[in-house]
Amino acid sequence: MSTKPSKSGSRRLTARDIAARKGGPPVVCVTAYTAPMAGFMDAAVDLLLVGDSLGMVLYGFDSTLPVTLDMMIAHGAAVVRGSRHACVVVDMPFGSYQASPAEAFKACARVMAETGCAGVKLEGGAAMADTVAYLTARGIPVMGHVGLTPQAVNQLGGYRTRGRTTSEARAILDDAESVADAGAFAVVIEGTVEPVARAITRKLKVPTIGIGASAACDGQVLVAEDMLGLFGDFTPKFVKRYAELGAAVTAAVERYAADVRARRFPGPEHVVAVAPKNAKAT
Ligand code: KIV
Repeated sequence: MSTKPSKSGSRRLTARDIAARKGGPPVVCVTAYTAPMAGFMDAAVDLLLVGDSLGMVLYGFDSTLPVTLDMMIAHGAAVVRGSRHACVVVDMPFGSYQASPAEAFKACARVMAETGCAGVKLEGGAAMADTVAYLTARGIPVMGHVGLTPQAVNQLGGYRTRGRTTSEARAILDDAESVADAGAFAVVIEGTVEPVARAITRKLKVPTIGIGASAACDGQVLVAEDMLGLFGDFTPKFVKRYAELGAAVTAAVERYAADVRARRFPGPEHVVAVAPKNAKAT
């Protein structure tokens, strides 16, 4: 990823910059899947996450499992092109990194080389620690993701908040410590009861980025379409709606449709009202 100066004169944030924010000003992260959305949000945030949630949000899948490496690369490259300031991290899709550290490296290297992103994110805790160590030892900044890990939805039996029992809470804490000790530069904690997310944040030396977790996390992430009212009829408890853009789109398209049907659009200002001249004979 280019670290050349942005329009504001500052260079683009890197994974190291994010790691250095532990205990400092909260890291502001939002998902981005396309160049224009990345451009709208870039200057306001520290981190743009090209989440595999794009499978559900953009492609209408029931889960993130059908998302492919090629999809993540295409969207990751678009987000890098559309931004200049924020650190861009791309999610590794299901099946691209779990088989072995060497397979993971091949897939991550493609993502890094073909998108220009600053790092990758992968789901899983203790079971993925060897892979995180393998990747970070080979120059790939890795963000961990523990707690509710949507790629494991079939094993978890749904998307319910995790860490409600002491054994589950202990396992999530162990997962977070394992990936952090293996070299992750930050760890996303998703869908985890507040005291557990708080305890993990206190324990880790790298920033935690919470979603449905705790205000004590070192940063927060939301899916942009959730917070902007662009996705789904149901708003999960952990989402705060900052705009109702879906309703604004519907209202705008209704006005356009009414104009077309009433022949109010296009108006004289939208057409080129020049009579054709006779073309010269050659
Ligand atoms: O895929 C995604 O958008 C994510 C965030 C919700 C953390 O992983």
